[in-house]
Amino acid sequence: MVGNSVKLLNCNSLDEISHLLPKEKRVIVIIDSNVKAIYGKYFPFPHIEVNASEKEKSLFVVADIARKLMDLEADRDTFLLAVGGGITTDIAAFTASIYFRGVDFALVPTTLLSQVDAAIGGKNGVNLDGYKNVLGVIRQPSFTLICPQFLKTLPQSDIKGGLAEMLKTLILKDREGYCKAASLLKRGYTLEELSPYISRAAAIKAQIVESDQFENGDRKLLNLGHTFAHAIEKEIGTSHGEAVAIGIILASRLSVKLGILAHQEAVTIEEDFIKIGLETKSPIKPEHLFSSMKRDKKRSGDSISFILIERIGKCTIHPVQIARLEEALYDLS
Ligand SMILES: NC(=O)c1ccc[n+]([C@@H]2O[C@H](COP(=O)([O-])OP(=O)(O)OC[C@H]3O[C@@H](n4cnc5c(N)ncnc54)[C@H](O)[C@@H]3O)[C@@H](O)[C@H]2O)c1
Repeated sequence: MVGNSVKLLNCNSLDEISHLLPKEKRVIVIIDSNVKAIYGKYFPFPHIEVNASEKEKSLFVVADIARKLMDLEADRDTFLLAVGGGITTDIAAFTASIYFRGVDFALVPTTLLSQVDAAIGGKNGVNLDGYKNVLGVIRQPSFTLICPQFLKTLPQSDIKGGLAEMLKTLILKDREGYCKAASLLKRGYTLEELSPYISRAAAIKAQIVESDQFENGDRKLLNLGHTFAHAIEKEIGTSHGEAVAIGIILASRLSVKLGILAHQEAVTIEEDFIKIGLETKSPIKPEHLFSSMKRDKKRSGDSISFILIERIGKCTIHPVQIARLEEALYDLS
């Protein structure tokens, strides 16, 4: 299916998955090798394994998968199913987008980050020479199947990275959803209790992408906290999720500083993040943060576009003058 419709299927039990897959097409699975070791039995199809590392997210691996697809006699009617975290779904979706000029595919994300973010939106790509996501296309999967049961075996550090992205999406559009999710996360939770918020964040992202597939408007909102996060990741190689959590806190403080957000709202977000166990303190000095951010791709002339928070549930895009940013950064970090 080529178009801009973003279809999500939610499922609560791993046993249901096979019933949700296409019956009329030949299915080949591209699966994360760690995930295959645990969940392989739920995908009884010919398969190709992928090692989930940023180094493997490359054209070499795409070519290798394409060769294996040819060995399996995959044709234009074959349906590719990607199963794994964001690395696997990115590699497989890109391969599916170019194999025989594009075959139908679907994604089964198995990390929290991929369930709320990476496997939704049709950005399919790989890295080049250490630069992330340089090569890619935008092409929507036939569907993304979200089953939180996979998260039972996900390490806590990966859960936290996903939580930062999930809360980010709720902060963008759903005040009530954010407040309920935050109070659940603060008191301790089961996967069953977390599921509705995963679905909600995924649905919000899907809705945003459907309204702006090529990122000319609303889709930019999904970058809340990311200008700070990219600078932090580049400077000290923190994990993406950790950097996003810190980025959201810095974006909320900047929003207060610029008179857009009430101080108490920023305090609420920060206290929630601390109690949930997310990082909130920037590990780098303001001058380093500033020199890295000056080179951000969202810079245009003497300003940088920031996603700022007006209140929890409503965010907007604002150009911020470089000089104003430099001055503000010393108070934010
Ligand atoms: N396409 C997009 O729009 C988009 C958006 C955000 C991030 N991304 C990409 O996503 C990638 C990061 O993905 P990620 O954080 O989902 O992780 P990942 O794919 O790197 O997986 C993390 C680890 O968890 C393991 N794993 C996966 N599922 C598991 C499970 N259920 N139980 C136990 N272990 C499991 C993997 O084998 C791996 O070791 C990055 O390459 C990033 O660029 C893409």
